[in-house]
Amino acid sequence: MTMAGNEIRVDAPQRDILIKPISPVLGAEVAGVDLSKPVSKALVDRFKQALADYKVLVYRDQELTQQQLIAFSRMWGPLGEHIMPGAVRDGVAEVNVMSNKDAAGKPNGRHTDSSAKRWHTDRSYMPVPAMTSLLYGVEVPREGGDTLFVNASAAYDALSPEMKAKIEGLTAIHWVEWSRRTGGVAVATDYELKKAPPVKHKLVRIHPVTKRPAIYAGCHAWKIDGWSEEESRPLLDELVRHATQDRFVYRHKWRPHDLVQWDNRCTMHAATDFDTHKELRVLYRTIVECNPADAASM
Ligand SMILES: [Fe+2]
Repeated sequence: MTMAGNEIRVDAPQRDILIKPISPVLGAEVAGVDLSKPVSKALVDRFKQALADYKVLVYRDQELTQQQLIAFSRMWGPLGEHIMPGAVRDGVAEVNVMSNKDAAGKPNGRHTDSSAKRWHTDRSYMPVPAMTSLLYGVEVPREGGDTLFVNASAAYDALSPEMKAKIEGLTAIHWVEWSRRTGGVAVATDYELKKAPPVKHKLVRIHPVTKRPAIYAGCHAWKIDGWSEEESRPLLDELVRHATQDRFVYRHKWRPHDLVQWDNRCTMHAATDFDTHKELRVLYRTIVECNPADAASM
């Protein structure tokens, strides 16, 4: 037990916490921890290594308020602002509430995150992108509404030597205007455009912990630096097509009260459809920013 400010931190004994692989592609399930209670830095350090190793962590059976999710998320680093319109509800700026629940508590027929149905990595359109995202399933559909994850390190490893040579040293320009314009859901707002001007990231990023290269692309990647949109598109599309083959994809079927956390530096993800008229889907999401030094060097 340790004291931090006014908080009393009580850890579950670490030996009781089990981290076991959830699929051959990526991901591990974390059992034996209650994240509604404060956790120590030592335990978060253990989770940080597990996240680097497994890329996706699934903490089962959590009972979390928005504030408890924020408290755990803050252990990982500074939280990013949600700049998309309507992302924030209940006056809690750090949590993006994705919900298809209407005022009467019934499904409203709208997908909770339509714009996330294309492959992407969170906030790659920001100068300091997301290191990790945490998504908590308050209510999840009995069927559908899965989240798909790509192991972008394994996908890089499987590229041909010719393709590796071709993309070596290339930089992509990511732009929220591009992904909104081509996503068919909403155009970027003035606020988003002001907060997220076009930004450059290496097309192959080296993970700061594992030192493994990973393809860093997805729907926010607009074009290759120095190339035209027309020249860039075939290459960017080919990389996403390659990376999203079944052999690199893990499909997460949500259970109620799963907290799913992923490493945006070496994965891509996509939301899937569900019956928005019959099923409720309510999720809380936080975003933890990359360490700026890591973001600049990756
Ligand atoms: Fe996302």
